Amino acid sequence: MKSNIQLHPNGRLRHLLTIEGLSRDILIQILDVAKQYAVLPGEPVKRSRLLQGRTITNLFFENSTRTRNTFELAARRLSADVLNFDESTSATAKGETLLDTLHNIEAMHSDMFVVRHNESGAAHFIAEHVAEHVSVINAGDGRHAHPTQALLDMFTIRQYKKDFTPLKVAIVGDILYSRVARSQILALNTLGVTEVRIIGPRTLIPTEAQVLGVHVYTDLREGLQDIDVVIMLRLQKERMMKDVLFPSESEYFRQYGLTAETLEWAKPDVLIMHPGPMNRGVEMTSEVADGPHSVILEQVSYGLAVRMAIMSMCLGEMP
Ligand code: NCD
Repeated sequence: MKSNIQLHPNGRLRHLLTIEGLSRDILIQILDVAKQYAVLPGEPVKRSRLLQGRTITNLFFENSTRTRNTFELAARRLSADVLNFDESTSATAKGETLLDTLHNIEAMHSDMFVVRHNESGAAHFIAEHVAEHVSVINAGDGRHAHPTQALLDMFTIRQYKKDFTPLKVAIVGDILYSRVARSQILALNTLGVTEVRIIGPRTLIPTEAQVLGVHVYTDLREGLQDIDVVIMLRLQKERMMKDVLFPSESEYFRQYGLTAETLEWAKPDVLIMHPGPMNRGVEMTSEVADGPHSVILEQVSYGLAVRMAIMSMCLGEMP
């Protein structure tokens, strides 16, 4: 897939479709801009008039709570008008083509589409067909990419660990079906971490794993040795369809679940992350999810700041 479509001829960000092809400088710039918007729960919210008069459309063809809501809030905090397109109640359900839907919303003067779709490549396809002034943000396409999630994860890591270079990061679980893992691996390697590991059952590890630039472990204990950050992924049962790629959830938990005991195998100051939605008792115990190493809710708060940064950069308005 073409990735340079993401940049204006002068190198400025126009769309965010994938981490692939983006330089370390651009990723750091996004994280720096996000820093200006970042607040944790309980702190006063940062608002700006930066995108006043602009219209941002959420085009969601697949369910989402966190991602859609944080995109909407991010747009509102920048004073943009927000249009929410819900496939189940739209004319696409009456047979209108995706491009017709798109051009109709464009005719309502939308400046940005935030797209989630169950087909890999959907956001690229839309980006190839929008008017010149319109930007497209990929909010998750099939198994391919989820770049804003990866960037909010990088932001969270940076808040706690400061420098990426010495870090060893493990991504645990269902890598095969995970667009989040693909984007995280690209981002971590671009930011220059020491090592990215993926840990999981052989059946949930993509065959091209080596090409991704990661070390593969099937044993949790070995994989967690010396690790600074652990990113747990959800078992994506809806994507596994009828293939049974592991014996049972309880067996999966026994082998790959994070508990107070298995956590001891990582570094003492390890960070525990999860993009959500989390299956408690499958990926980790509640004790770990709610424990002192977990930054799972902070990821959600920082997600707002990172999405505000990406929206302002793509629409050419820097704070
Ligand atoms: C992820 C997604 O939809 O790709 N969730 C999210 O955006 N926070 C991961 C998942 O569904 O497990």
